[in-house]
Amino acid sequence: MTNSAAAAPQSKKTVTLTDNETGKQFEFPVLDGSTGPRVIDIRKLYAETGMFTYDPGFTSTAACESGLTYIDGDEGVLLHRGYSIAELAEKSDFLEVCYLLLNGDLPNAAQKDEFVKIVTNHTMVHEQMQFFFRGFRRDSHPMAVMVGTIGALSAFYHDSLNIDDQRQREIAAFRLIAKMPTIAAMTYKYSIGQPFMYPRNDLSYAENFLYMTFAVPSEPYKINPILARAMDRILILHADHEQNASTSTVRLAGSSRANPFACIASGIASLWGPAHGGANEAVLKMLEEIGTVDRIPECIKRAKDKNDSFRLMGFGHRVYKNFDPRAKIMRETCHEVLKELNIKDPLLDIAMELERIALQDEYFIEKKLYPNVDFYSGIILKAMGFPTSMFTVLFAMARTVGWIAQWKEMIEEPTQRIGRPRQLYTGPVAREFVSIDKRK
Ligand code: SDX
Repeated sequence: MTNSAAAAPQSKKTVTLTDNETGKQFEFPVLDGSTGPRVIDIRKLYAETGMFTYDPGFTSTAACESGLTYIDGDEGVLLHRGYSIAELAEKSDFLEVCYLLLNGDLPNAAQKDEFVKIVTNHTMVHEQMQFFFRGFRRDSHPMAVMVGTIGALSAFYHDSLNIDDQRQREIAAFRLIAKMPTIAAMTYKYSIGQPFMYPRNDLSYAENFLYMTFAVPSEPYKINPILARAMDRILILHADHEQNASTSTVRLAGSSRANPFACIASGIASLWGPAHGGANEAVLKMLEEIGTVDRIPECIKRAKDKNDSFRLMGFGHRVYKNFDPRAKIMRETCHEVLKELNIKDPLLDIAMELERIALQDEYFIEKKLYPNVDFYSGIILKAMGFPTSMFTVLFAMARTVGWIAQWKEMIEEPTQRIGRPRQLYTGPVAREFVSIDKRK
C-alpha cells in the first residue's frame, strides 16, 4: 500500500504563487513521487487564497496518489507495480497480473495456485441472476445489460458490502473478478437466444470465458490454445491504466462509500463512451465505413477538418504522445490470431494502411496522435467471433481488476475523504423572483 502524501516525507521544495493584483505571495509544497512529474500540493490553496484552480478535463491535475500503474506518455511506457506491460503480456498471465495489481507483487507458485483456486470457485453467479436477463430485450446493447446486472450484484452479496471490513473488501474483489466473465458470456448468450453455459473449474480464466461464450450444450467445445492465449493477453493489456475516465469515476463513486458493486457499475457506464472504452467498437464501425484502402485519404481529410466532428477512432490519447505500448502488442496479437484462423480480413489491410498514412501525416505528427489500445483490438475480437457490440464488454471485464485495485487503494488511504470538486460559476447572480403574471 502506498504511503499517503500527507504521511510522505514533506519535500523542502516549494513553489510561490504571486497574486499580481494584491502583491500577496503564497507558498505551496512540491511533492515527489517515485518517478514521473512532481506535484504542487494545493490542498490549502482555497483556504489561503480564496481561489480555486481551474482544470476542466483534469489535464494538469493529480487527483490522487497511487502505486499501481505508471504511464510515461512521451516515452510510451506503461508499468504495473514497476513491471513493463510488454514483459507482463509476454511472460505472465491475466490472473498473475490481477494478483500483482491487488497485492503489490507477482505471486510465487503457491500464492498463484491459491489465488487461481479462489477466483475459479467464485465464477458461478446466484441462480436468480438469470432472471434479470429476461427483463432486457434480446437486442439490448450488452453494455446496458452489464451496467444493470453488475450493479445488481450488491442485491445478492450482502456479506461483502461492508467497505470497512478488509475481508469483505477482498471477497467483493474476488467475486467481481471471477463473475465478470460469467455475466459477460451470459449477456452474449442472451442476445443470440442460446442457453447460458455454466463455468467450468477445469479451465483457465480465458479458456472458461471462451467456453461460456461459444460452447453449446449439444456438443463438446474444443478450446483453441492460441485463441485462449490471445484472449488472456488482451485481458492483460486492458487491466489497468492509471486515472483514466472510468477509473476516476469508480474512485469518485467509491469516495462516497458506495458499495464496490455499485462503484464498478459506474465504471462500466463511463467506459461505454466512444471517447473511452467504446472506441474499440467505434474503430470497427469506422473501418467498415471506410470500406476500401482508396477511401483512406478522404477519411484522413475529414479527421483533420475542424468543422467535421469525425475523428480517427483508435487514434490519440490524453497521456500517450507516442505509441501506446499496448497497441504494438495488440497489432502483433492481431497478426497471430488472423494467421491461426487463416483469416484474410480486409479491415486489417485498411487499418494497417490507415496507420501508415496517418503516422506520416503532418497533422497527426504535430498533434502526436498515435494508435491507441483500441485501434487493433476490434479486428482481433471480430476474428475470434465476438460481435462488435461485445467489444467494450470485454474491455470492462479486463478493467474490473484495475477498477477494484484502485478502489481498494483509495478506501485503504488513511486520508481518504469524499471527492467534491468546485467550479468557476458563470451563471446569473442573485435576482428577485418574478411571479408568472409579471413575466413577459
Ligand atoms: C482509451 O485515459 C486512458 O488511459 C484511456 C484508455 C484506458 O486504457 O483507460 O487508454 C482507453 O479510452 C483510449 C482512447 C480511445 N478513444 C479513441 O480512440 C477516440 C478517438 N480519440 C480522441 O477522441 C482523443 O484522442 C481522446 C479522447 C482519446 C483524447 O482526447 P484529448 O486528450 O482531450 O485530446 P483532444 O480531444 O484535446 O485533442 C487534441 C487535438 C485536438 O485538436 P485541436 O483542438 O488541438 O486542434 O488532437 C485532435 C483534436 O481535434 N485529435 C484528433 C483525434 N484525437 C485528438 N483528431 C483526429 N482524430 C483523433 N482521433
